[in-house]
Amino acid sequence: MDSNEIQGRLALITGASGGIGAACSHQLAKQGVHLALTYSTNPTSINNLVSDLKSKHGDKHLRISTHKVDVGSPDQIEHMFEEIEAEHAQRPDILISNAGYGKRITNIWDIPLEEFDYMLNINLRASFILVKGVVEHMKTQRWGRIVFMSSIAAYGGGINGCHYAASKGGLTGMMKNLSSRLAEYNISVNDVAPAMIGDTGMVPDPAAVAETVATIPLKRLGTPEETANVVTMLVSTGYMTGQSLLLTGGLK
Ligand SMILES: NC(=O)c1ccc[n+]([C@@H]2O[C@H](COP(=O)([O-])OP(=O)(O)OC[C@H]3O[C@@H](n4cnc5c(N)ncnc54)[C@H](OP(=O)(O)O)[C@@H]3O)[C@@H](O)[C@H]2O)c1
Repeated sequence: MDSNEIQGRLALITGASGGIGAACSHQLAKQGVHLALTYSTNPTSINNLVSDLKSKHGDKHLRISTHKVDVGSPDQIEHMFEEIEAEHAQRPDILISNAGYGKRITNIWDIPLEEFDYMLNINLRASFILVKGVVEHMKTQRWGRIVFMSSIAAYGGGINGCHYAASKGGLTGMMKNLSSRLAEYNISVNDVAPAMIGDTGMVPDPAAVAETVATIPLKRLGTPEETANVVTMLVSTGYMTGQSLLLTGGLK
């Protein structure tokens, strides 16, 4: 893959302490992208990731910063941007809004209103705030790449309830609007919509979702690396914008 366009850029990856975010961090580091990585509750995971990135990509002399942020808090997001500016002397050129909350409650009659609001704040409102935090810099330099981590839930599938589906469907709607509005500034906006990705906090292992795996045409979970492949393709392919890419092993 031609890395010229993204080499030396700065990417903000939220939820880098999780499975998919960590895989995206590895792939972008491999392409020579500086990283601002967030975690919320798992400092051990982010510290291990940074050691791993430094040992694998030390030759590239990348700037890698880590930031503790609860993306449900606009104040914490603002503070994170201040830290990023202090450490990198710029706002991010690439935003991978990946942090997500997925507590599983299947039926609407069991989903408390507070849980709906909480999920929408983490999975949808946070991306709105994050885009506001990066868009002026991207507009000014007429270059930016934004990727949201949506889900097959946005299309009515998956194993979670309607609150999760609403949060991910909202992301895809926001992505399509932003892609139209921001194209004139050479900012692409896309999302990746995975089904079941293993080795993650959300789907730790196939045994936890054995019945669902049997319904996947490819008969296996996807991997964080396969998800990161799609993210890397999107950030290095500026001509693609406004797309929601399903990554589902054949599930509809
Ligand atoms: N795994 C799947 O099958 C699947 C399928 C479709 C979509 N997705 C989406 O993929 C994204 C990444 O999830 P994953 O599969 O990699 O699961 P994961 O390993 O559980 O990672 C979730 C990440 O989100 C962070 N996070 C959770 N709540 C947060 C909050 N309030 N503020 C800031 N960060 C928060 C976690 O941080 P800490 O651990 O540090 O708290 C962690 O880094 C999510 O948006 C998820 O909805 C996953």
